[in-house]
Formats: sequence, structure tokens, C-alpha cells
Amino acid sequence: MKAKPFVKWVGGKAQLLLELEKRLPQDILEKKIIPRYIEPFVGGGAMFFYLITKYKLEESFLLDNNPDLVITYDVIKNHHQKLIKKLGEIEDDHLKRSEEERKENFYKIREAYNQQLHNFNFNLYDTKWIDRAVYFIFLNKTCFNGLYRQNSKGEFNVPFGRYKNPKICDENNLKLVNKALKDTELICGDFTESASYINNNSLVYMDPPYRPLNGTSYFTNYSKDGFDDEDQNKLANFFKEMDKRGANLILSNSDPKNQDEQDHFFDDLYADYNLERVLAKRNINRDAKKRGFINELIVRNYF
Ligand SMILES: C[S@@+](CC[C@H](N)C(=O)[O-])C[C@H]1O[C@@H](n2cnc3c(N)ncnc32)[C@H](O)[C@@H]1O
Repeated sequence: MKAKPFVKWVGGKAQLLLELEKRLPQDILEKKIIPRYIEPFVGGGAMFFYLITKYKLEESFLLDNNPDLVITYDVIKNHHQKLIKKLGEIEDDHLKRSEEERKENFYKIREAYNQQLHNFNFNLYDTKWIDRAVYFIFLNKTCFNGLYRQNSKGEFNVPFGRYKNPKICDENNLKLVNKALKDTELICGDFTESASYINNNSLVYMDPPYRPLNGTSYFTNYSKDGFDDEDQNKLANFFKEMDKRGANLILSNSDPKNQDEQDHFFDDLYADYNLERVLAKRNINRDAKKRGFINELIVRNYF
């Protein structure tokens, strides 16, 4: 059994993994060793969990600016037994209820999660982290489409999702994730903070929030701050800087040309690099008819 992402995450890269793998640096493909792996936008970590089963990751650093996601990784890494026990209890309690009662329970837990925010220290571990990680996973597995969206006050506001039998506590996978994270450093912060870990021995995979395809920021609302074109510019500058350090960089993004052939935004931003378009399946779209195959971009600073 192999570890897989423990949350459903918008922009999860499961569909693109083989395309990304084919494009790893040649010596990594040959030796199956990645001396230093860094993901500045780890999200659900599809690429990390895929790579760790096939390659030896000697050192790895996973970052995200969503503090709730990062403390959940941390709790799975350091306190997974307690987490599994509490999550199992919350699952049993939830699944024995009727559909209407489950809905009520979801909103009760969402409210408790949002209340907890007022007095919560994300910087210093205490046992409240375990309770918050339990809520976080519960909400992810029972909310609409596994979205993570917050209002301007930072409160989680995704509605109840209807699932027949949601697997809230996947004990086996949580144990595998715990093992996979053993030698990993988890950091909550802006992607630029990953600079402290990047050297000429590093493989950096960057999967920033999508540039919206349809002119709204709906799908990039991972946090109350969003990720706009200015952030994409900042990321492209960061890419250039890390390229100068001699790291191997691989970045994925949505392709605005799916919607508008004339939109050269990324072609211009990454004109000096190796930019390719690959077909991928895109599931999360408000309009079910628009779910299907579209192009995604993969940019590398090597061939
Ligand atoms: C497209 S998702 C990554 C998905 C991931 N590849 C997966 O397999 O699930 C982008 C992630 O970037 C995070 N993020 C958004 N803005 C950020 C920033 N400025 N610095 C670091 N992480 C950020 C979001 O919280 C989100 O988890």
C-alpha cells in the first residue's frame, strides 16, 4: 500500500503525475535518488506522495501558506495515533446519523472550527492542534467538493456536501502518510520562504493556485488572500532567481489559452524557459459540461 493525499484538494495533481515524472531531470530518473526535494505550494501533496514511493528523497521540505493544512501535516507526522483515535470517533458519531442530522452535525463542527480560530496559536504546538486537525480533515471529507474557502474574516465557509458514506478516517492511509513524512520538514509560509532551502542540489516542484480560466477567482480561493497576476509575476521572478542558484525547477499551471488563444500571459512570463502544453483531466469546474480534457502548462529550467 502506498501513501496518498489525506485531503481532497483543489488543483490536486493526480492527473498530471506521469507527465511530470517523465520530465524529471535525467540523473534522478536514472539513479532514483532526489537529494533535496522542495514543494513551495504543497496542498494535498499528490506529487510528493507519488515520488516518495518510487524515489529516495534524501531531504524534503514542504511548504504552504495555509496554516490549517500545515498543522494537519504536522499532527499526522508527530501525533498520528491520537489523531486517528479522535477522527475515528467523530466518523462513527457522524455516520450513524440520518442525512438531516449529518448536515446539522457538519454545521456544528464548522462553527466550532471557526470559533477555535479566535484563540489559536499556529506557531506553538499544543494538544489543540490535534482537535483542529481532526476538524480540518472532517470538514474536508464532508464539505462540498473538498473545497477550502474562507470569508474575509478567515472563517471556513464551504457548505455541506452530500456523500453516501464518506470515509472520514482512513486509518491505513494516515499511517502510511505518517511514515512518508518521517524525514520531511513542514513549513507554513509564503512560497518565497522556500528560498532558504533551495540550493544547486535541489529539485523544486511549484504548483501555484491556478490562474482562473473563466475570469473569476472562484477556484483560486484557497485562502482569504487569493493569488492574482501580480503574484504570478512575483513567482516568475522567484523562478528566475532560483534558476540562477542552479536548482532544477519544474512548475505547473493552467493554460489560459484554453479559453483565449491570444492570452500569452505565461508564454511571456516564462519565455526564457522550456514551456510545454500537456493534456490533463480537469474535474473541478462549476459547470459539469466543462469538465474534461484541457491543456496544462509545464515549465522547466532544463531540457
Ligand atoms: C494548486 S494548489 C497545490 C495543489 C497540490 N499540487 C496538490 O497536489 O494538491 C496551490 C496551493 O498553494 C497554496 N498557496 C496559495 N498562495 C500561496 C503562497 N503565496 N505561498 C505558499 N502557498 C500558497 C494554497 O494553500 C494551495 O494549497
